[in-house]
Amino acid sequence: MVRTALPAAIAALLLWSLLAFAPGSGAPAPDSTASDSTAAQYIGNHKCRICHSKQFKSWQTTVHAASLTNLAKADSAAIRGMAKKLGVKLGKPAHETDDCVKCHVTGLGLAGGYPGADSVSRANLAAVGCESCHGPGSRHLTAAEGQHKATIRRGSPETEKLCRTCHTAQTSPKFDLAVYRKTGIHVLPPP
Ligand code: HEC
Ligand code: HEC
Ligand code: HEC
Ligand code: HEC
Repeated sequence: MVRTALPAAIAALLLWSLLAFAPGSGAPAPDSTASDSTAAQYIGNHKCRICHSKQFKSWQTTVHAASLTNLAKADSAAIRGMAKKLGVKLGKPAHETDDCVKCHVTGLGLAGGYPGADSVSRANLAAVGCESCHGPGSRHLTAAEGQHKATIRRGSPETEKLCRTCHTAQTSPKFDLAVYRKTGIHVLPPP
């Protein structure tokens, strides 16, 4: 079991770092299906709330909204288990270790992303937030009428690929989009 699982794990990790992560940034880079959002910066959930309060309230009830606080209070066996699986050396607490934090916050190390410029933005980036799935939103925030859709990533049709930038074989072996989307995304309009 170990013998076959290990190379597969390494291959998956490699693939994941090649495909899903921007070179050098160490943080998941939502690949921009909305072509115009490339120069945008992360701004935090509180900004999205202004116009999308329904999604915001619903998102608050998901596990994603507590992903960093949960990491900070996770029991040490779970922390050690995940660190071992991911080959991460923990010199400080997991919630202060970039190699853990990168999937448990929004835009680690990217422009405007976690840890943010001040305590308000920090608080609003300290979770798997709106922009973890929709990409950085500064240009969307200030978009002219009619330009909103072109300045943000929607989250579909490549939803599975998006989720799997964090829900990898190592971190989330039970991931199944049909099941996970029921509780992992905010309310969506009926299909
Ligand atoms: C100033 C108001 C405003 C703010 C703030 C705002 N949006 Fe929007 N958003 C809009 C409008 C307007 C639309 C377009 C709705 C339409 O055309 O149906 C939209 C559409 C969207 C869509 C759907 C795009 C599509 O293709 O259907 C997403 C996703 C989205 N916003 C995410 C966000 C996120 C994430 C944030 C925070 C970073 C945010 N919005 C902040 C006004 C806003
Ligand atoms: C590639 C992205 C990613 C990285 C890197 C990552 N995590 Fe996570 N973590 C996740 C995802 C996704 C889940 C949710 C898994 C699920 O429930 O299916 C999770 C869940 C957890 C959980 C709660 C569930 C459990 O298994 O007990 C703990 C604790 C945790 N991570 C700790 C860590 C630690 C410690 C590190 C660094 C060594 C880390 N994570 C790095 C994505 C990541
Ligand atoms: C875990 C990923 C994820 C997070 C976090 C997330 N969204 Fe979404 N969102 C999606 C997906 C996926 C869709 C598209 C669903 C579809 O079309 O199948 C979507 C659709 C939307 C839409 C389009 C309108 C609609 O309801 O179809 C808006 C607006 C939106 N999200 C806003 C937000 C805001 C604001 C936040 C933060 C409070 C947020 N999202 C957090 C994944 C996410
Ligand atoms: C930026 C990284 C990231 C992305 C992108 C992401 N997730 Fe997550 N997700 C996490 C982390 C981290 C956790 C663990 C949170 C915790 O346990 O506190 C998690 C937990 C979950 C859980 C709870 C699982 C459980 O065991 O209770 C669901 C459901 C979920 N995610 C669904 C999704 C879906 C569906 C998508 C894509 C639309 C998605 N996620 C995209 C990082 C991510």
